Amino acid sequence: MDYQQLIEEVYQEVQAENLKGKVADYIPEIGNVNPDQFGIALVDLKGNVYGVGDHQKPFSIQSISKVHTLTMVFNVFNSKLWSRVNVEPSGDPFNSIAQLEYEKGIPRNPFINAGALVITDALCSKFEHPINEITDFINELAGATCVKINPEVQISEKNHGERNTALAYFLKSFKNFNNPIDEVLDVYFSHCAMEMSCVDLAKSFSFLANDGYSIFADRLVLTESQSRRVNALMLTCGFYDEAGEFAFKVGLPGKSGVGGGVAAVMPHKFSIAVWSPELNEKGNSVKAIRALELLTDKLAFSLF
Ligand code: DON
Repeated sequence: MDYQQLIEEVYQEVQAENLKGKVADYIPEIGNVNPDQFGIALVDLKGNVYGVGDHQKPFSIQSISKVHTLTMVFNVFNSKLWSRVNVEPSGDPFNSIAQLEYEKGIPRNPFINAGALVITDALCSKFEHPINEITDFINELAGATCVKINPEVQISEKNHGERNTALAYFLKSFKNFNNPIDEVLDVYFSHCAMEMSCVDLAKSFSFLANDGYSIFADRLVLTESQSRRVNALMLTCGFYDEAGEFAFKVGLPGKSGVGGGVAAVMPHKFSIAVWSPELNEKGNSVKAIRALELLTDKLAFSLF
């Protein structure tokens, strides 16, 4: 399979469709981005990198970072973690608070904001300097010092963080939050404000296509069984209330972010990151989703 030709074809076809969406503006600083940017990077399990368009340009990875933070606590907390956060799709938007009340402070999954806050809280219990641990970990996975936290985005998230702050207080009222709220929110906003290129992001996801072994870090990051479980969570919960549609159209485990990025894996073959800032009404990148749909159509295989 000529992956370079494949992603170039996908790129051209998506560009020709002239799809439109809306750049996220509820975090004002994320809105300050050229909406026409579009890049794809694919990394195979030998470490070969294929790229097209704006694949080397860093962008705000936002909720995609929730896969990295989950991976970090998965190893540390393992079964204890799953009493604090569930593994069911929510069918609700990423920042919804509704289920949290009638499900007694146990978030549906680690990728909705409530669940990701529990994970970040767990990281704050484990590490003295959690944000340094997170950036070091992702740099290691990408095999490069590539992660930067954008301070303007971080502050913008904090200044418009009413929803996340409410979620954190709600979790605390159910005793599912152990550290000071401001401390955890600062780490959460910082990891959402990390910037990486499609190339580095795809590299950092490579271990999930490779039974937990990162060829860039040259070590087993998760066991094979843990790695399968992270992929199962991405497939069922990675796109919030669009997870079913993504599985239906694309058929790969993946994770989106409101910066317009999507990272996905084809187990035992490759990892891929696609970025374009304009989003659909569910908060997922219009062009990235279309590109991945075309990609699995052309390959004629997916997870299924
Ligand atoms: O907490 C938030 O709302 C953002 N920092 C992240 C949301 C996000 O990326 C949802 N994904 N599509």
